[in-house]
Amino acid sequence: MLGSGGDGVLLLETGLEVPMENGRPAYFNYYWLRDNCPSSFDAQTRERVYDIFSEETPPRAETAAIAGGCLEIAWQGSGHVTRLPLDFLSAQAGGEKRPDPARIAREPWFCDHYENMARFAQPDLVRDKTCLADWIEALLRDGVALVTGMPDTDAGLLETAGLLGHVRPSYFGLVFEVKTHINPTNLAFTAKALELHTDLPSEDAAPGVQFLHCRANSVIGGDSLFVDGLAVAEAFRAAHPDAFQLLAHTDVPYYCEHETFDMRARQRVIELDDEGAVSGVTISQHQADIFDLPQHDLDRYYPAFCRFGRMLQEDRFLMRFRLNAGECIVFDNHRIVHGRAGYTASSGDRHLRGCYIDRGEMRSTYRCLKGKGRFA
Ligand SMILES: [Fe+2]
Repeated sequence: MLGSGGDGVLLLETGLEVPMENGRPAYFNYYWLRDNCPSSFDAQTRERVYDIFSEETPPRAETAAIAGGCLEIAWQGSGHVTRLPLDFLSAQAGGEKRPDPARIAREPWFCDHYENMARFAQPDLVRDKTCLADWIEALLRDGVALVTGMPDTDAGLLETAGLLGHVRPSYFGLVFEVKTHINPTNLAFTAKALELHTDLPSEDAAPGVQFLHCRANSVIGGDSLFVDGLAVAEAFRAAHPDAFQLLAHTDVPYYCEHETFDMRARQRVIELDDEGAVSGVTISQHQADIFDLPQHDLDRYYPAFCRFGRMLQEDRFLMRFRLNAGECIVFDNHRIVHGRAGYTASSGDRHLRGCYIDRGEMRSTYRCLKGKGRFA
């Protein structure tokens, strides 16, 4: 101990020991205390404007004491005074991660989810912020929700997606049209069955949230096939723990190549969050590049990969339904695996208009709606 301030505050070599309201002392590092002085933040932009890199010597307290519910520090050299409320310090003392209202527990779902799928009428989402928050909550929890009553316009999709965040283009452009194309660049643009997949794993950051607005669907066939990759991955973890670890920790290459693009990226089939929980999956046989792992590693990888791919197709996980004109299915493209039954192109019209936003922006919108920011 190097010194003692007022009210039991101890001045140590690298920080302060401060008595908390619970009677226990808590330690705070000098750099951290100086960096987070309230004066470090610009009230208008809410950004940190203090530059800790410009300090030539490590920050150190000249004096420190508790006064008026605050820890008051006078800094050596500059004479700058920092006042930090004790309740702020108390919340930070344990080094716990900042609570995040958008961190909502994910709930796995199975083949019978269609009846229970969260549904929202598009006009309600536009006018009612509570409804909007409920929609995002459903997407964070279930990874999928259905929007009904969509305007029958090109603008309807962008307006709806824009409620959650900025529409972000892919190499197909701002929006894509899923219907039979004369010169298709993607299997989706044909009438063939579409294997279960997540979209565009060949992008560095594969799209976060996908919107598919059904403008017309009068064909024979073409049912939508949706699977909760989280539910499958958790079942896979329980049944095949070694194979699970392999898929969760091995990067494999994906590609998408045509005349004007040559996209490549590496992804893991099972994605884990920072606590080791399954946060999603990435799977696409169409865009899986030639696996460039050592051949002996493939002796283990391929059986695990195929076992997972087969589990993904099991009936217990498969939600099969018909997407109707005027509906928009919205889903987490890093969690929900989707596909389509084949259809007879000559039997009618089938037209889905799609786009993407980032998941981070959706969570940002949710936090703003909940008013849980640091400056709120
Ligand atoms: Fe797709």
